[in-house]
Amino acid sequence: MGKIRKAVFPVAGLGTRFLPATKASPKEMLPVVDKPLIQYAAEEAEDAGVDQLVFITGRNKRSIEDHFDRAYELEMELEGAGRQRLLEAVRTILPSRMSCIYLRQTKALGLGHAVLCARPVVGEEPFVVLLADDLIRTDGQGVVGQMTECYARYGCSILSVMEIPRDETDKYGIVETRPGPDGELQVLSIVEKPAPEDAPSNLAVVGRYLLTSKIFDKLECTRPGAGGEIQLTDAIAALLADEPVIAYPFRGKRYDCGSKLGYLQATVEHGLAHPELGADFAAYLRREIT
Ligand code: G1P
Repeated sequence: MGKIRKAVFPVAGLGTRFLPATKASPKEMLPVVDKPLIQYAAEEAEDAGVDQLVFITGRNKRSIEDHFDRAYELEMELEGAGRQRLLEAVRTILPSRMSCIYLRQTKALGLGHAVLCARPVVGEEPFVVLLADDLIRTDGQGVVGQMTECYARYGCSILSVMEIPRDETDKYGIVETRPGPDGELQVLSIVEKPAPEDAPSNLAVVGRYLLTSKIFDKLECTRPGAGGEIQLTDAIAALLADEPVIAYPFRGKRYDCGSKLGYLQATVEHGLAHPELGADFAAYLRREIT
C-alpha cells in the first residue's frame, strides 16, 4: 500500500469573513500566537511523513510562497545579532527533505475544483487534503498522522469527522455511517451543508481528507452543487459507488479559524498552552478578565 507523500492545501479562497484583515494578505497567514495557520497545517502533514506540499493558490497569496522560502537577508541579520533561537525558528519552517509546489487556481470554482487542480502533481498516489482554517490541536500525534495509520490498515479514503450540534449541519459536509467489522465507521452517504431537518446525522467532516486518486475522475464529472461551487463532498459521494470510504473520529480539538469566534478561541487556548507565554497569559486573564 502506497505511503502518503503529498499534501494538498487549497489556499485560493478570498477569506471574506476576515475582511479587512484579509484584503491584501491571505487568511492562511493569520497568526495564532506566533505561527500562521498554514504553518500549523504544514507541520501536521510533515509530522505524518509527507514530503511534498502542494499549494493551490490564487491572487494575493504570494506571502505563503515567501513564508516557505528561505529569507537570506533576515537570516543574516539574525545570525549577525546572535539571535540563534529566532534563526532556528525561521530556518526550520521548511525542513530540507520537503518540497513545495504552487499551482494557481485562476477561478474560484469551489473546494472540489481546487483539489482537481492538484491532479497533474499528485498523479496516481493517495494524498491528503488539509484546510488550514481548521486548526486541530492534539496531545500527541496530529490528525494527518492518525489518518495515515488508519489508511495503512484499511487502504481506502478516510474523512476526519466530529460530532456537531444538530443546528449547525448546514455549515459542513455530513456523513451517514454504519459500523464495519472492525468497529470502523463506513460511510454510507455524504451530503454538503444539509438543513438540520434533512441531515442524515450530526457527524461532520472537518478539514482533513485522505483520498485515493480515483477522486480525480469523480471531480472531473462533478457539476456545481451547494452554493454553485464544485464540491469535494459531491465527488466523495460519487466515489462511494466504487470504493469504500471511512469516517474517522479523530483525537484532538478543532478550532474553526474560518470564523472570528473560533479564531479567538484558538488564540486564547494556544496562548495558554504556549511554553513561554502560557503562565503570564493565564495570570493576565485571571487578573484582568472576569
Ligand atoms: C468545507 C467543506 C465541508 C467541510 C468543511 C470543514 O466547507 O465543503 O464539507 O465540512 O470545509 O471545515 P467550508 O467551510 O469551506 O464552507
